[in-house]
Amino acid sequence: MCKVLLHMTLQLLGKTSADKLYLQIQKEVKELSYSPCLAVILVGEDPASQVYVGKKIKKCAELGFQSRKILLPEDTSEAALLKQIQSLNEDSEVDGILVQLPLPKHIHEATIIECIDAKKDVDVLTSRLAGKLMHNEHQIAPCTPSGIIRMLEDHDIQMEGKDAVVLGRSKIVGLPMSLLLQQAGATVTLCHSKTKDIRSHTKRADIVIVAVGKPEFLGKEDFHKNSVVIDVGIHRREDGSLCGDVRQEEIRDYVAAYSPVPKGVGPMTIAMLMWNNLQLSKLRRIK
Ligand code: GUN
Repeated sequence: MCKVLLHMTLQLLGKTSADKLYLQIQKEVKELSYSPCLAVILVGEDPASQVYVGKKIKKCAELGFQSRKILLPEDTSEAALLKQIQSLNEDSEVDGILVQLPLPKHIHEATIIECIDAKKDVDVLTSRLAGKLMHNEHQIAPCTPSGIIRMLEDHDIQMEGKDAVVLGRSKIVGLPMSLLLQQAGATVTLCHSKTKDIRSHTKRADIVIVAVGKPEFLGKEDFHKNSVVIDVGIHRREDGSLCGDVRQEEIRDYVAAYSPVPKGVGPMTIAMLMWNNLQLSKLRRIK
């Protein structure tokens, strides 16, 4: 008898995992005596950031959260932004504070982040919460990396004992991603712009997380048939269509599993933000 083995590529859709999380959030919110409140600060008029902030505020309303949307002009001084954050730190109604990144060049990002009260640090960027993450003592983790871990778990993709390669060392994605994968039992290699031969790493990895912020940077030749590829990038092509950090059409029918762009990692980032805000509210308000 002739056996035909079909190679099926699994699509990792963030929406499935996000919807599951939203059901849990809604159930928990119903049992609370308060509405969790998220404050989002946007400095300047970057169109992509405006879209992201809009989505976050809309999701708050859908989940029965309160929200504060604080829009500040591009030329806002560092001192004025610090003052705004300080007032949100002192506002007992506010549970989470998110300063949308990137900030305009004249503002020192680390100074702004450190001003956020760690109890309200929904992005897990302050040194206090980042330190807890390093020690594996965290109660919440950065939104995109923890969303990716949930997506992998929801699709029964094992991390323990696997070789994982993370591309990109940003404080918001690559660096915490490497920590979370390592805590999940993977052997992690962190590649970045100074890495000599990226392909030599991605080609032999079981799981590859691509967060380089460069449109269609990697393709089929960088992976193998059994690769699990998570594409964190989202970019707009000149024709208006969206693409990721990976040439998706090349890997779509080749690798074992991949997260599409759009509809892959994106929905999970917002879901984890809402989850983190709920957790911070409970930690702060329920004694
Ligand atoms: N800019 C892009 N993604 C994020 C995020 O998750 N948090 C913040 N604060 N800014 C971002």
